[in-house]
Amino acid sequence: MQKIVNKINNNLKGSVIIPADKSISHRAVMFASLAKGKSIIKNFSTGKDPLSSLNICKKLGINSEFADNDLIINSTGKLIKPKTTLDCGNSGTTMRLMSGILSGQNFNCTLIGDESLSKRPMKRVIEPLTLMGAKIKSNAFKAPLNIYGKNLHAIDYVSKLASAQVKSCILLAGLNADGKTSFTEPFVSRNHTEIMLKYMGADINTDKNTVTIEKSQLEPRTIEICGDISSAAYFIVAGLIVPNSKIILKNVGLNPTRTGMLEAAEKMGADIEILDKKIVSGEIVGDIQVSFSDLKACTIEGEIIPRLIDELPVIAVLATQAQGTTIVKDAQDLRNKESDRIKAVVTELKKIGANIEETPDGFIIKGKTPLTGGVEIETYHDHRLAMSLYVAGLICEKPISINGFEWVNISFPEFEKLFSALTL
Ligand code: S3P
Repeated sequence: MQKIVNKINNNLKGSVIIPADKSISHRAVMFASLAKGKSIIKNFSTGKDPLSSLNICKKLGINSEFADNDLIINSTGKLIKPKTTLDCGNSGTTMRLMSGILSGQNFNCTLIGDESLSKRPMKRVIEPLTLMGAKIKSNAFKAPLNIYGKNLHAIDYVSKLASAQVKSCILLAGLNADGKTSFTEPFVSRNHTEIMLKYMGADINTDKNTVTIEKSQLEPRTIEICGDISSAAYFIVAGLIVPNSKIILKNVGLNPTRTGMLEAAEKMGADIEILDKKIVSGEIVGDIQVSFSDLKACTIEGEIIPRLIDELPVIAVLATQAQGTTIVKDAQDLRNKESDRIKAVVTELKKIGANIEETPDGFIIKGKTPLTGGVEIETYHDHRLAMSLYVAGLICEKPISINGFEWVNISFPEFEKLFSALTL
């Protein structure tokens, strides 16, 4: 589907409630499936990716029903052998976390994915799982993954990558392994798995960059899912770059392992205020007020990268409107996402007039540049590209046509409707 985005004539104003966090939704449905009894998930994401996780859990014998805004999961606490292959769709989180859960079951099964997911690296989970005694056959370390259920044993794993998907995979395998499993990462990646497993009664502890877990039976819980800061990021950037805007984004998850984007924006001089902070199901939640700001460039590197990894495409858009040279480095894993996001962002932003150059592990952007637009641009089947380019379109002098805009449905089907609410 092609979407034409026109320059916005007025400012953005008002408030919107940001829909459910994708990462937390995946975990809620998977962990509720492992717990014996009835869990209630409030505000489950409507994105296609979390629905892939839900569908897989159903194929593994879980009973589920939607009642109003709640997803109710009933589980015996044991998964059963699925009758068909398990389709992860576009979702790397589904494939990597499920491989940790499925490696220690007493049955065999196969995980498959769409074209993009079938190109993404799975060695990062196959290698440590194999050290735990797992048996996984893959297509040269890519999907499909044939998983032969085995008894797993604990390992102490030191990861070169700061990846929440790899960490979660190993912790979930450790939940069902003999002994005490530990996972150490170079920088702390998002810790929703640790928070939710603890909330559901697992024997799990964190000490700096190391998490340890022992075999545990999860208890069913009511889990309320907060809004997704990665979805809020598109509104945050729009509020900062569309002149005279002032907006409030409500019910957003503010877990510090996810808020790197707010820190980077503040370093760039962004006028951002956090209102009404509280704790919901173990996660920090609050409202974010954003006002149009005069921005200056900054360097984004090192430990902050895993805390804003999914926001880098839209941060690139922000940097085009900041005075000076913004440098993003240490983000080479962006090349392994739903698309090669370094190449994709640089290619498409150049087409609309940005001064941006690709580097092996990031990009360099010189600003402030008026964006010209007036061209057709591509999303590379990548939801984050689609939404980042839409935000850029709001300040392009001439309309842009975004091909493949339907990919927004992967994480944020409500995206356009919520944007319209801020332009009334
Ligand atoms: C996710 C972790 C991140 C992120 C992805 C979701 C998760 O991936 O990019 O969109 O839910 O654990 P990595 O952990 O591989 O960096």
